[in-house]
Amino acid sequence: MSTTPVSDIDLFTDDARLHPYPLHAELRALGPVVYLSRHDVYALTRYRTIRDVLGDWQMYSSAQGTTMNPGMNADLANVITLFLDPPEHTAVRRVLGRPLRPERLRELAPRIEAEAEAIVGRLVDRGEFDAATELAEHLPMTIVSELVGLGEHGRANMLRWAAATWESQGVPNQRVADAAPVVEEFISFAMTEAVPGKLDPDGWAAQLYEAADAGEVSRDRCPFLMLDYVTPSLDTTIYAVSNAVRLFAEHSEQWDLVRSDPTLIPHAINETLRLESPVQQFTRVVTADHTLEGVDLHAGDRVLVLYGSANRDERKYPDPERFDVTRKPSDHLAFGRGEHVCIGMQLARLEMTALLRSLVSRVRRFEILAAEPVLSNALHGMQSLRVRTVT
Ligand code: HEM
Repeated sequence: MSTTPVSDIDLFTDDARLHPYPLHAELRALGPVVYLSRHDVYALTRYRTIRDVLGDWQMYSSAQGTTMNPGMNADLANVITLFLDPPEHTAVRRVLGRPLRPERLRELAPRIEAEAEAIVGRLVDRGEFDAATELAEHLPMTIVSELVGLGEHGRANMLRWAAATWESQGVPNQRVADAAPVVEEFISFAMTEAVPGKLDPDGWAAQLYEAADAGEVSRDRCPFLMLDYVTPSLDTTIYAVSNAVRLFAEHSEQWDLVRSDPTLIPHAINETLRLESPVQQFTRVVTADHTLEGVDLHAGDRVLVLYGSANRDERKYPDPERFDVTRKPSDHLAFGRGEHVCIGMQLARLEMTALLRSLVSRVRRFEILAAEPVLSNALHGMQSLRVRTVT
């Protein structure tokens, strides 16, 4: 007799995308592994199970795609970095991670810090601004987009292409359908325009072709590796920053703590990512029949990794809904874990740290004037967050 908990909760309705946490709590209460009948997938709900599954790529493979969209999984399986297993993954990740290594980020830090000072100074002088667009988008759009080095047309469209690629990761719904032509446009740009001669010769994308010339990756793979830079490097960090401002606006006592002790900034960043994880889910495919937490899984079954649910698991984080900058949850799973752990996390931390440092020295209070969360198949953050700052 199967002991599998089953639920007909649909995590991809508009309401579920905007308010996932009560549903996650319901699923966590049912068990660590819950079969979601609407989408034929096993949801992983609790911290320990998710941590262990992410650490076992042999049993839980990425090579058949890691999204909830069967079409996208099939089209890009074994092509983009996210959809590879070792040993291919190890070789490709080495190349992809080169510009994100600590010594390269140390060179970049002064520029990011200066740009953060400048934008925060301008916005705070104005007193009212949209923290989701004018503040949070600034560093990814001015610095990261330039580092990728796609040229002006690429740069102007990156955010639109990236957002559409994230949308495509949902179960086939209207948002996926609407995103499809934009993703096609992006892939066509990658194949025909983002090629040597048209790329900034010092940019990250051009360096992929240099690695191909050196025999480190196949040349055919380069346009898709470029996707790996564009898609995850913008919206993720943008939403992380807008989530942070919203949380500090809503919990001014936590902002006071950080202002009185800025050494709390790294912990505040972790706590923000724990409580409002910008990436809500990816998936894996089971490679062999086995039992996970009492649930029989079979080769070919898909498991849904709910990062946001792991990070709010009451078994791991006491009183998990509470925003507490002194909690120090450095083991949160918002950047994933294991072979595919986020390769850009130190860049994201650098950007967030620079902005928070500049804000801490200037802003006493944030007051929210208007807030609109983003409706996305994959991400969690603010579409718009109009704030007034008190200095
Ligand atoms: C706060 C910001 C960010 C969050 C929350 C985030 C989250 C994640 C997560 C959860 C994964 C794991 C995927 C998996 O397990 O299958 C991941 C992988 C990845 N991230 Fe990030 N990310 C962020 C920023 C960035 C930035 C700034 C970059 C690039 C410059 C980046 C590039 C990547 C890449 C290329 C992967 C795939 C790594 C692999 O498959 O080996 N991310 N990210």
